[in-house]
Formats: sequence, structure tokens, C-alpha cells
Amino acid sequence: MSSQDAHLQQRESPRRTFLDTLLGLGFASTFMSILYPVWRYVIPPANAEPATDSVVAGKVSEFRPNTGAVLKFGTKPAILVRTSDGQFKAFNAVCTHLECTVQYKSETSQIWCACHNGLYDLSGNVISGPPPRPLEVFKVNLRGEPGQEDVVISRT
Ligand code: FES
Repeated sequence: MSSQDAHLQQRESPRRTFLDTLLGLGFASTFMSILYPVWRYVIPPANAEPATDSVVAGKVSEFRPNTGAVLKFGTKPAILVRTSDGQFKAFNAVCTHLECTVQYKSETSQIWCACHNGLYDLSGNVISGPPPRPLEVFKVNLRGEPGQEDVVISRT
């Protein structure tokens, strides 16, 4: 290597380092711009779900005996059942097996999950099927003027 080549190599070395650094930063920022949205999607932020303690399901007169209604309880579904004798019962409508939404079966007065044929009684207990736990029971209160009461569902 001649002294002129060595001198040229010495002059280019800082320039090469600078270009390598720029290239590295470009790769790093491209990688982060791909990785960050994926990371935000996979790991949702804490407290993304606002806590809901109670909802007004409607007026008592809107619910006939031996019927069920699925309604929103915050971001999750709840099921309100009016039994044949006029009582109200409410549960978290998310099946404890694989989180399908349950429904009321008026023919048998049971709560049914269509996904894998899970059955719950009107206390939320599992009768049959794969659900591992009972449904979460909500409290039901009637509020307001007699004859015009609201049905209020709340966490117990
Ligand atoms: S999700 Fe309800 S029984 Fe499987």
C-alpha cells in the first residue's frame, strides 16, 4: 500500500463511519416503526376498559315474564332474565368457557351458550357442558315510582 492510499483511507474513514451510523439509524428507525404498532396491538394499555358499576336496563314493564335480554354492561354484555314468576336475575353474559355470549332459553328456563352447548341455571351455576365456572351474578334493583320502576343492574 502506497502512502497516498493510506492517506486516502485515513481521510475516508470518518466519512465511512458517519455513513455507517446514518445507515444504522435508518434501519433502527424502520425496525421500530414496524415493531411499535405491533407491540401496542399485542399489549393493550392498562385501564383501557372503563369500569362500569351499574346500568339501567329499562322499565319493568318492558320485560315480559319468562324472557331474557342481552344488554351492554360497559364494554361487556350482560343478560337480564325475568323469570316466569316475575323475578329479575342478571349475569355477566360472557360464557366462562371460551367467552361466547350466552342467551336465555325460555323453553327450559335456562341460560344457554350456543358455542359448545353450555347450560347454566338461573343462579348462574353450570348444569352441563364445558364451562368451568358459574356466570358472574349481578345485583338487580328496582328504582323509581311504583309502576314506572327502572330495572338497575349492578355489580354485587
Ligand atoms: S364458549 Fe360457552 S360453552 Fe364454550
